[in-house]
Amino acid sequence: MTDAATSTPGAGEPFRGRVALVTGASRGIGLAIAERLIAGGASVCLTARRAAPLAEAIAQLPEGRAIGLAGGADDPAHRSEVFAAIERTYGRIDVLVNNAGINPVFGPLADLDLEAARKILEVNVVGTLAWTQAALAAGLGDHDHAAVVDVSSVTGDVPSPGIAWYGVSKAAVSHLTRSLAVELAPRVRVNAVAPAVVKTRFARALYEEREDEVSATYPMGRLGQPADVAEAVAFLASPAASWITGQVLTLDGGLLQAGGTA
Ligand SMILES: NC(=O)c1ccc[n+]([C@@H]2O[C@H](COP(=O)([O-])OP(=O)(O)OC[C@H]3O[C@@H](n4cnc5c(N)ncnc54)[C@H](OP(=O)(O)O)[C@@H]3O)[C@@H](O)[C@H]2O)c1
Repeated sequence: MTDAATSTPGAGEPFRGRVALVTGASRGIGLAIAERLIAGGASVCLTARRAAPLAEAIAQLPEGRAIGLAGGADDPAHRSEVFAAIERTYGRIDVLVNNAGINPVFGPLADLDLEAARKILEVNVVGTLAWTQAALAAGLGDHDHAAVVDVSSVTGDVPSPGIAWYGVSKAAVSHLTRSLAVELAPRVRVNAVAPAVVKTRFARALYEEREDEVSATYPMGRLGQPADVAEAVAFLASPAASWITGQVLTLDGGLLQAGGTA
């Protein structure tokens, strides 16, 4: 179906007139993605578990360009509320960014608590599939240039001691991305980004008090910033990437090529 309003978006505002949902977006990478999509012309719905930080994040964004709904990414009722709010407010959905992800445990796989293991898969993997299913049911793909971008991780490509199960979940996210890309083409493109360490609260334990030492293992000499991820997500979600689907784009300042691990 051709949509006159969106079939030839301008280079400066590729998301003008279009609506995006970013999960896990009250801070960190998700908030940077929301800001970047809005700068590109989108209206955005943001989610996070806690309402107060989410409201603070929305208040920082350009007025009238964002709404927020609090809830867990693995909660089916929350997902329904989010798509009902998007329909009421905007009447369409064009871009889904599956950014919400958790890693509540650190330690060897041999000692991993299996309830924690199930929760990680529920949020990171089943959640990513469930948001995609719900977005399709809400009309993702009804307009030109529909796109899903999943936030995976380099830990899905190379073993990362201490956070190995999280890596297992992200390996599943990357393969889910590829599988959905084949299934949903040509109506919806599905890609992912796989960052190494990005400076957010989530990753603080991986670099705090030894940032120089960790940065030195990155050929580019620094850790990632949320904006580094947001730029790549915006590209993959934009019409400029219209022949790209099923790709997992590594964002790591050269770390993996140098034989490193996150
Ligand atoms: N930072 C890194 O080095 C790095 C590297 C590779 C991949 N990633 C991935 O990037 C994504 C974002 O991470 P980040 O570093 O930006 O983390 P962050 O700074 O800790 O932000 C996480 C955001 O997600 C929300 N959130 C957390 N759990 C949620 C849940 N179960 N349901 C809904 N919202 C939830 C948080 O708000 P509430 O706490 O209020 O829910 C917050 O808004 C994750 O998928 C992570 O795996 C991060």
